[in-house]
Amino acid sequence: MNSDELRSKYIEFFTRRDHAQIEGKSLIPENDPTVLFTAAGMHPLVPYLLGEPHPAGTRLVDYQKCIRTGDIDSVGDPSHLTFFEMLGNWSLGDYFKEGAITMSWEFLTSPRWLGIPPEKLGVTVFAGDENAPRDDESAAVWRSLGIPESRISYRPKEDNWWGPAGNTGPCGPDSEMFYDIGREPCGPDCGPGCSCGKWLEIWNDVFMQYNKTEAGTYEPLARKCVDTGMGIERTVTILNGKKSVYDTEIFAPIIAAVTSSMVPAGYVYGTGGAEGDDKDQSIRIICDHIRSAAFILGDPRAVTPSNVGAGYVLRRLIRRSVRHGRKLGLEGPWLSATAQAVVDKFAHAYPELKANRDFIMEELNKEGDKFSETLQKGEREFEKLLPGLLKDPRKTLSGRLAFKLYDTYGFPIELTGELAAEKGMTVNRLEFDEAFKKHQELSRTQGGQTFKGGLADQGEMAVKYHTATHLLHRALRMVLGDHVAQKGSNITAERMRFDFSHGEPMSVEELKRVEEIVNEQIQRDLPVSMTVMSLEEASASGATALFGEKYESQVKVYTVGDPANFFSREVCGGPHVERTGVIGRFRIQKEQSSSAGVRRIRAVLE
Ligand code: ALA
Repeated sequence: MNSDELRSKYIEFFTRRDHAQIEGKSLIPENDPTVLFTAAGMHPLVPYLLGEPHPAGTRLVDYQKCIRTGDIDSVGDPSHLTFFEMLGNWSLGDYFKEGAITMSWEFLTSPRWLGIPPEKLGVTVFAGDENAPRDDESAAVWRSLGIPESRISYRPKEDNWWGPAGNTGPCGPDSEMFYDIGREPCGPDCGPGCSCGKWLEIWNDVFMQYNKTEAGTYEPLARKCVDTGMGIERTVTILNGKKSVYDTEIFAPIIAAVTSSMVPAGYVYGTGGAEGDDKDQSIRIICDHIRSAAFILGDPRAVTPSNVGAGYVLRRLIRRSVRHGRKLGLEGPWLSATAQAVVDKFAHAYPELKANRDFIMEELNKEGDKFSETLQKGEREFEKLLPGLLKDPRKTLSGRLAFKLYDTYGFPIELTGELAAEKGMTVNRLEFDEAFKKHQELSRTQGGQTFKGGLADQGEMAVKYHTATHLLHRALRMVLGDHVAQKGSNITAERMRFDFSHGEPMSVEELKRVEEIVNEQIQRDLPVSMTVMSLEEASASGATALFGEKYESQVKVYTVGDPANFFSREVCGGPHVERTGVIGRFRIQKEQSSSAGVRRIRAVLE
């Protein structure tokens, strides 16, 4: 079964069981500054898991593009990926453990669906601790379906608990499903969930049944939810008896694009034996990284390579690919050829890749060329330093110098090491690592400031700020004109940032007027109401929608003011305050340029 069949079977299975198929969302989260990328199918659904009604109902299914960068340095081995697709189904206060587990089991084992032999499957459930009891309920459901006790493992919070995203919020035990690849157990304790490689996780059912409070206690939730996630790449791997995600049809055309640019020609992935190991690893890294980069650049809310946040991750992905491209001896327009293979392979499921194809290629090539120049410059710089370096009797290049080459010229430590080795020298790696760690801590604090807090925690202040962004959006359009469109927002409990299209700095008078208009609406204590309608109805009713975002067929529309004579109306997931009077006084702190043609306002509520 290939990935397309798996995707459509999953959707079909759950829509037949009354789930509404919803659109997967952007890879770059809106209004959730706690994460750089959408890392699970549930991320865009957090507001609904917290209690907001979803316009499509209480049973949902989708496929979602995800990026996880935690393991970026392990990419290249047979199983790690930065980009992956997640299939998911949700119950918002609808079915719970029995329903979710029974459906998972049927989908996995029924010959009508995946037809995995039941004896190849094992599961884990939560073992219980001082906060929550052992999840005997899930274990009982698994047993009733025929899983023997020997293939049920009880595991602690580190393994079998999900969330909350912030420090407080909905969370609960999960039950994970594993495929036994048939290897010998690593010891007497080896069972589902063991990390020895025998058990491959393919699906996770999360049962959100507690709310973690500020006091650190776990209170039962009135409305329990289910969140599940199945990884497409891994599942396709086991369904086809493959050992590695890279051996599936998902990567075949991307690998072919890379190897066809290799000089000398003729290398076939996986055939180089031990000598080819290095080559194969470089090929895998390039395939993974360019797939991620193409999806990031092809996203409706694309970021471009930069030195912060998501843009920095993108830059690393491209640069690391270029480095491995050099190692492999790739020639010609191999970056765009590889990205084109990604577009061709996935555009039917993610049409945005096709729509943004030219942008993907342009940005990839720009960054690729820039980095190739950097590498050349670094090499020249190294040559210049060489005579001095060779005088050192210990033949060691200091870590500080290696870090300077890295920091100033973007010259990767591995390359410095290689060049040094060619001249019979070694690099003081320990010293380099120290300098690097210091640098990382610095950028982490900076990153932390940029990405902390946010609507994902749905605290009272964040919700007030959220409604204030709607008031601000409308006020800006009134004062500056209808060309103003929201380009992004970032909310914490302390402040809001709002990006919008506008070609020039705002004058003091304009800023004052905008502030006045927003505060007038707050003083009028306008009601905020929500209606569900089709996107066409929403636009006919005068609602603004975020450019480039994908919406469901039914959307939520938030109106501020009398619906017959409203102040603002936007398509939005919510939540919002009930009346504007509670928002407090709105004050703009700063207005500045954000990027070409985009201005940024930073404001606080007092
Ligand atoms: N949110 C759960 C996961 O990503 C389903 O594993």
